[in-house]
Amino acid sequence: MLRLRLFITFKIMFHFAFAGTTSPGGHCSTSRNRLGSNTHKFLSDCSDQTYCSGPQNGTCLLRTCRRDEFPFGYGPEDFLPPLCPRGTFCPDEGDACRLQVSVGGACQMDRDEQCAPAANWREISNGENFYGSLCLRGICMFANVTYGEPCVIDKNTYTDIGFDGKAIGIVIVRDNCRAPQSYCNQETQVCERTKTLGDFCQQDQECELRNCVSGVCTEPPETPFRVAPWQYVITAFCVIGAMISICMLLTVIHRRHRMRRYREIREYYFEQLNLRKSIMALHSAAAVSEGREQMLI
Ligand SMILES: *[C@@H]1O[C@H](CO)[C@@H](O)[C@H](O)[C@H]1NC(C)=O
Ligand SMILES: *[C@@H]1O[C@H](CO)[C@@H](O)[C@H](O)[C@H]1NC(C)=O
Repeated sequence: MLRLRLFITFKIMFHFAFAGTTSPGGHCSTSRNRLGSNTHKFLSDCSDQTYCSGPQNGTCLLRTCRRDEFPFGYGPEDFLPPLCPRGTFCPDEGDACRLQVSVGGACQMDRDEQCAPAANWREISNGENFYGSLCLRGICMFANVTYGEPCVIDKNTYTDIGFDGKAIGIVIVRDNCRAPQSYCNQETQVCERTKTLGDFCQQDQECELRNCVSGVCTEPPETPFRVAPWQYVITAFCVIGAMISICMLLTVIHRRHRMRRYREIREYYFEQLNLRKSIMALHSAAAVSEGREQMLI
């Protein structure tokens, strides 16, 4: 079992590491252009900064365009090829900007931006497509199919290595139904209405919020926390209560303090009076004894 696991892990690592390494000027063949079996990343004989010029006796040439702001395989000091202007796209190879493809045309896997936007893209555009366009199974289409109409499903498994070194497969299912109000049923291949929170589900895409946990449509983890009105009321009461009790506590402490001072001052006065009384008693006693002495003389 361990052996098998190690084998799988090594096989995956081998696949991940199998990107081309030929630098500019090296020999290559476009016949070996392919998508990685685990990541579905575009791979060729050439390195990430170059593309292969031809099918036979090709040469690796520096890429002339990029599709990402921060493209893969470039260091901070490397010169970046330019992004493509509007209406064009940079293919996975990075050889040149090309015009966007219209519906029915060929596109590269998961590259929705290679398809031209739909005329009514404002109605069908959302985070799951590019201006209403999709690239499913290598063909450009619009995400405009309504309830009960046949739809197209593109299901892909991406494999990654988890924390424990074991392979984890992530299945991504995409379809051309109008999202998020409908999804493509995998058995019937027909668009169906998406399910709302709390409904029974089997897969994420069946739910309107695209999150199915233990068979129930649930809010996705990134949903912002909503505070109910009664929670606002309780919080306000608690804050006001805390403020009032702090004020009362301060008043009580202040009063006690004043009381102690008052007692101290009173004691001081009493002491002063006693002192005065005793001095006067001393004086009168002295005067009396002086009078007696004079009488004796
Ligand atoms: C490719 O290169 C080989 C040897 O360098 C040569 O024999 C062959 O004719 C070349 N093929 C083409 C299509 O240029
Ligand atoms: C979706 O778009 C395609 C291509 O423009 C069009 O042929 C089709 O009628 C549209 N479907 C719906 C339901 O609007």
